Amino acid sequence: MNAGLRWSSHPAACLHGEVRVPGDKSISHRAIMLAALADGSSVIDGFLEGEDTRATARAFTRMGVRIDAPSSARRIVHGVGLHGLRAADGPIDCGNAGTGMRLLAGLLAGQAFDSELIGDASLSRRPMLRVIEPLARMGARITASTAGMPPLHVHGKQSLQGCLHEPAVASAQVKSAILLAGLYAQGTTEVRETQPTRDYSERMLAAFGWPIEFGSGWARIEGGHRLRATDVKVPADFSSAAFFLVAASIVPGSNLLLRGVGMNERRTGLLSVMRMMGADIVEEARRQQGGEWVADLRVRHAPLRGIDVPVSLVADMIDEFPVLFVAAAAAHGQTRVTQAPELRVKESDRLAMMARGLAALGVHIEEHADGALIQGGRIAAGQVESAGDHRIAMAFCVAGLIAEGPVAIDDCSNVATSFPGFVELANGCGFVIRARGAVCGSSRG
Ligand code: S3P
Repeated sequence: MNAGLRWSSHPAACLHGEVRVPGDKSISHRAIMLAALADGSSVIDGFLEGEDTRATARAFTRMGVRIDAPSSARRIVHGVGLHGLRAADGPIDCGNAGTGMRLLAGLLAGQAFDSELIGDASLSRRPMLRVIEPLARMGARITASTAGMPPLHVHGKQSLQGCLHEPAVASAQVKSAILLAGLYAQGTTEVRETQPTRDYSERMLAAFGWPIEFGSGWARIEGGHRLRATDVKVPADFSSAAFFLVAASIVPGSNLLLRGVGMNERRTGLLSVMRMMGADIVEEARRQQGGEWVADLRVRHAPLRGIDVPVSLVADMIDEFPVLFVAAAAAHGQTRVTQAPELRVKESDRLAMMARGLAALGVHIEEHADGALIQGGRIAAGQVESAGDHRIAMAFCVAGLIAEGPVAIDDCSNVATSFPGFVELANGCGFVIRARGAVCGSSRG
């Protein structure tokens, strides 16, 4: 990991052309996991070649699953069946990926062997009790540091029992960890959510032939079935597209087409919010692809106005707040974000990092315990930190497009966790992102 990768993002004339952002991260993680546990071989197309999802694939290779990579963004996973994994020969490194670690915790809780899950510095500070506690209620034994953080020791040979869960936090990772443990549990495992979250695990379990009932905010499965190999087509990641949606909205004269973007309604909260702010984003060629809706998104520049972000949309845009803050800084008037305390426990404390960075660029922003108040207007040149958070780094690249001068961003290496090739793709449609210092200006694939 090259923590020293530094970029500067410069004011740009206008953005235009067509862009296809890489595959969806959430779906790529889940596709590897379910294909590994299935009977037979599954082909995954559109797989995200990011560090997070590659770490998940590596975890399964180390547990005895053969995964071929015949070309970029394609994986052929030779499943070993529900009980075919074997212990890795040491700790499993999940890198920067909260999704990888939390879902693996659930899945490994049902195995006949012990596992240790470790991660990088950021992941090692993220809360794990949210999965450890519900899994313990099913009979799992998982230990963490005294503060409830990684590394996680997952003790095998436990007999799991299905039960009803009503998680306090709205989290698809928690729900998915519980459902994956539920594959190995006796009886029924059910999750009821206060706020519905992305349902990729549910949809993919159904696609792999596991009997599952689910609807908005609830899911119910029984243990004791098998997964059947299935090919998966991964749509372009809405969260990666989000940087371009905001960028083209705020740079005058822009007209961009984003191809094949995943439109799962539990992911597209930012689209609704941007439209409420006045954005001109049109869905073209809406279609089904592998059980998910995808569309091409045409985005043209439009003046934005500040809004109060509806609380009901927070979970549906949980990864998009860094770039929404930039849209808010570019908008006319105030934007208020409330009831989003989860932003403090993402890859960084995103409320703190965005408040600090925007303030360094002369934006008036009040940081609150669970949100922020942003006064739109001008964005000055300046220097910001990303705290090694991929989405903070990319959000400030978007800010640089309309700043009064260059925005210098430190610590950009982790953009490769979710968006390999970001700089090349962005510069190809009109961004001006340059490397600072000796290191080359590309996110690594
Ligand atoms: C994810 C769920 C979200 C999101 C993360 C990916 C998933 O996390 O922030 O980037 O794939 O399930 P939470 O479930 O913790 O909100």
